[in-house]
Amino acid sequence: MFRSLRLKLTLLYTLIVFLTFLIVSFIIYQYLESTLSKSLNQSMTNESRWIAARMERYQTKAENLKNVQEDIFDHAAYFPIKEYIEIWDSAGDIFYQSPNLALQDTLMNWYKIRKTEKPEIFTITDFRNHNIRLTGMRAGKFEVLIAMPIENINEPLEQLLVIIGWLGPLVIIVSLVGGYLLARRSFLKIQQVIDTAKRINADRLYDRIPDQGSKDEIGEIISTLNEMISRLDVSFKQMKQFSADASHELKTPLAVMRAQLENALDSKSNIIELKDTVARSLDETLRMSAIVENLLLLAKSDAGQEIIKRNKIDLHELVSQTHEECVILASHRSIEVILMHLDRVSVLGDLEKLRQAILNLIDNAIKYSNDGGKIEVGLWKENDKAKIIISDSGIGIPAEDLGRIFDRFYRVDKARSRDMGGAGLGLAISKAIIEAHSGMIYVRSTAQKGTEFTIIVPLLHN
Ligand SMILES: Nc1ncnc2c1ncn2[C@@H]1O[C@H](COP(=O)(O)OP(=O)(O)OP(=O)(O)O)[C@@H](O)[C@H]1O
Ligand SMILES: [Mg+2]
Repeated sequence: MFRSLRLKLTLLYTLIVFLTFLIVSFIIYQYLESTLSKSLNQSMTNESRWIAARMERYQTKAENLKNVQEDIFDHAAYFPIKEYIEIWDSAGDIFYQSPNLALQDTLMNWYKIRKTEKPEIFTITDFRNHNIRLTGMRAGKFEVLIAMPIENINEPLEQLLVIIGWLGPLVIIVSLVGGYLLARRSFLKIQQVIDTAKRINADRLYDRIPDQGSKDEIGEIISTLNEMISRLDVSFKQMKQFSADASHELKTPLAVMRAQLENALDSKSNIIELKDTVARSLDETLRMSAIVENLLLLAKSDAGQEIIKRNKIDLHELVSQTHEECVILASHRSIEVILMHLDRVSVLGDLEKLRQAILNLIDNAIKYSNDGGKIEVGLWKENDKAKIIISDSGIGIPAEDLGRIFDRFYRVDKARSRDMGGAGLGLAISKAIIEAHSGMIYVRSTAQKGTEFTIIVPLLHN
């Protein structure tokens, strides 16, 4: 029903303020009632004591009856609260009765019925259509009765209720308006954030929500959103770069193939020349399939799909075979390939994929070595991990490029790498494969000195 948070907060705020007002009013009412009641009781006790004392003096000093009655009358006339006084003697006759009482309606009638009650001051309802408090006290042979109307207490209480009745709606209105304005002030900032965030779409990811520098929750929302937009910006740029690189890598061999085939069609080439053209076109096709296959593997890995099988692999056999392949490949360029170490270890994984990962490193080591260089390969068992090292004494990688060589299509020397048929995907593929085996791959390199790649994979637990 209430979809706006602003409205909900305002209503909640009003409810809390109003409940607080009710509780405070109730406490004040109770406190006032008990204070007034105590003070009325006190006045009645004081009055009875004064009259009782006066009556005792009358008995001991045998004063004139009229004097006493006048004294009591005067005293009551000056007393600020309206009071009823009755004094009875032991013979059952009225010694004094205040003029506001009547013979047929004596206080004694009520007192006789209730006199045993505790506390000794009791309330009588319906005394001449109103309520009074009544108390009695013995003074020698006399019985002094005093009564006072309860209106003395009720009037201020009723006035308080009227004030509460008027203040209640006022409190509701003030807290509704105040709550709404307060909520509006807070939500205005949030609305600004929402409006700006809405404007920032894929084409405006360079934009940021203006930071008002506040350290409150809204400031936190702004900085979190800005960080998120920055991350999106980086991802979008990477995606765009990736698509551009991928299409560029495929465009070049396609263009080469097209030119070769057009030439072959136009020219009057003999069968040998035609075969040569077809063979070169086939090379380009193979190159493109390799790129597409690699891209598919990376896409699967990005999507969180399983890219490897899990079998028991004798890693020492695999490393020994790849070493032999490396020897053959490197022999054309008089590069020496040394097998440093070969521990017997097994891992759980995918034989073909692991071979591909290692061969990519060996391929690089040969590609980026100078003729007559040296490559070292080794496999070690270290605690519960297998460690493979492939190092070369080649051209090395400049420090500023080291952080990016595992990125897709990243090549330090574009011209050189492409001449050698490289698309810049080899290391990205190796990394994806090794990480799929819960392992890791890292590099150390010094430009013009050489490069060392290390692969770490967890051992198979029997
Ligand atoms: N052993 C190495 N020595 C020097 N530079 C290297 C070495 N290995 C990789 N690099 C640098 O890192 C870049 C990325 O390597 P990667 O294997 O991903 O791509 P590539 O070899 O260029 O192409 P591809 O492997 O797809 O055929 C290379 O272009 C190269 O500049
Ligand atoms: Mg490579």
